[in-house]
Amino acid sequence: MKLSIALAAAVLVVTANTVTAAETQFDQLERGRYQAVLGDCAGCHTARGGMPFAGGVALQTPFGKLVAPNITPDRETGIGNWSEGDFRRMMKTGIGHNGIRLYPAMPYPAYSRMSDNDIADLWVYLGTQQPVKNPVVANQLPFPFNIRLLLAGWNWLNFTPTSFTPNPQKSADWNRGAYIVEGAGHCGVCHSPKTWSGADKSNAALAGEVLQGWMAPKITAAARDGLGQWSVEDVTAYLKTGANRFDIASGPMAEVIEASTSKMTDADLRAIAVYLKDLPEASADRTPIAADAGIMRTGAAIYADNCSACHGGKGEGVPKLFPQLAGNALMQQQDATSLIRVVLAGSQAGATHAAPTAPAMPSLAWRLNDAQVADVVTYVRNTWGNAAPAISADAVGKLRQQLKAGN
Ligand code: HEC
Ligand code: HEC
Ligand code: HEC
Repeated sequence: MKLSIALAAAVLVVTANTVTAAETQFDQLERGRYQAVLGDCAGCHTARGGMPFAGGVALQTPFGKLVAPNITPDRETGIGNWSEGDFRRMMKTGIGHNGIRLYPAMPYPAYSRMSDNDIADLWVYLGTQQPVKNPVVANQLPFPFNIRLLLAGWNWLNFTPTSFTPNPQKSADWNRGAYIVEGAGHCGVCHSPKTWSGADKSNAALAGEVLQGWMAPKITAAARDGLGQWSVEDVTAYLKTGANRFDIASGPMAEVIEASTSKMTDADLRAIAVYLKDLPEASADRTPIAADAGIMRTGAAIYADNCSACHGGKGEGVPKLFPQLAGNALMQQQDATSLIRVVLAGSQAGATHAAPTAPAMPSLAWRLNDAQVADVVTYVRNTWGNAAPAISADAVGKLRQQLKAGN
């Protein structure tokens, strides 16, 4: 009798233990899945319509084409032969399996700030993915950029593995935001100005940069051309749904929102917003071009005929349908590449769960010549409280050629 009670108790204890073990494993998987969301691994490693993480997304870099490889646990064509240690070393230093140096198009300079625990969770999650046989040749760069040895030089110049150090003067939200933005979220890959060799410029973090014909704008708290006028709620709404009262995301940011930020927790989005809104930076002090200047008068006429039906006579837009152009930071970036691009090529805003009907901006390249596009964009950049440098017909012509060439 006594014995059977003891046995039963032992069985109970064992069951309880396995449940906890299973729960712990489940928790770790779930945490790992979330790290993959924060790092947007699928954004590069999952091809459209392809198997998760089986690779194949082509990235245009200033030096040529790189293709994100297969990172499923397939032993032959994926990372099935990697150990957790290999994976951690790659995330922290950019040195891959067998010691090869990876190109920083894989954002390891940012991921190196992720904690060992977060990397361990991510590794467990990747290990549970379905192995897919899909050979991918990552390195499709032209000579001499295809020589991995050169990367030793790049790393030496630009990259010291850094871990994240919290700032004890700041709130928990701020520190969590900093950890995501500078680490897994790798926002600076697009938003930070680059040096000639493609590394982030020091002292200009998140001050805006042009990539593949898109301008990733300044996202510090600068008043005119940054997030100065956005509230914390405006920032979180944008990152969660792709739209807020100022803006509707398009291009690469729409993809980031769809695959990554829209799936982050509300607490993390808030933390990101708190951090960004605390990044100080003086706005450019500018006066708008006078409304009676020739370029502004022609611009106003083109706007009335071609744009006001959607964006409104005063650039006020329609919330979540047509972006407000008045007082919009995106209109006032030093570089107007994105604006010219949107007018020439049109744009489809990304659809998310929260904002499922994505409106489109029509392409007007067939309708407006280079000078007309320059005038109307200059007008938009200098009306309703906006102020930014004028655009030349030349700049429009150059981008038109690039778009024709398919870039
Ligand atoms: C911006 C695009 C991009 C993102 C985001 C990205 N990767 Fe990569 N990744 C690449 C590219 C490109 C390579 C190939 C680099 C090379 O071969 O030099 C690569 C290489 C790798 C490799 C090495 C594979 C091999 O066979 O050598 C692993 C592992 C990897 N990535 C995992 C991840 C994980 C995990 C995440 C998310 C935390 C992630 N990547 C996010 C672009 C990306
Ligand atoms: C792949 C490149 C890329 C990455 C990575 C990226 N962004 Fe962006 N971001 C852009 C582009 C391009 C735009 C401009 C979108 C447009 O024109 O609609 C943008 C716009 C924004 C805006 C709107 C700014 C404004 O004034 O309208 C915010 C806020 C923003 N990004 C935050 C982030 C955060 C936070 C991260 C990291 C979690 C991030 N971005 C990562 C490319 C990127
Ligand atoms: C049929 C309606 C329509 C017309 C006409 C139109 N637009 Fe748009 N526009 C949109 C929509 C919808 C978007 C958002 C699409 C997106 O973000 O991908 C947009 C986006 C933009 C943006 C980017 C704003 C941002 O915050 O991302 C600019 C700049 C712009 N339009 C300028 C113009 C100009 C200049 C004209 C006239 C030459 C014009 N639009 C005509 C519907 C229109």
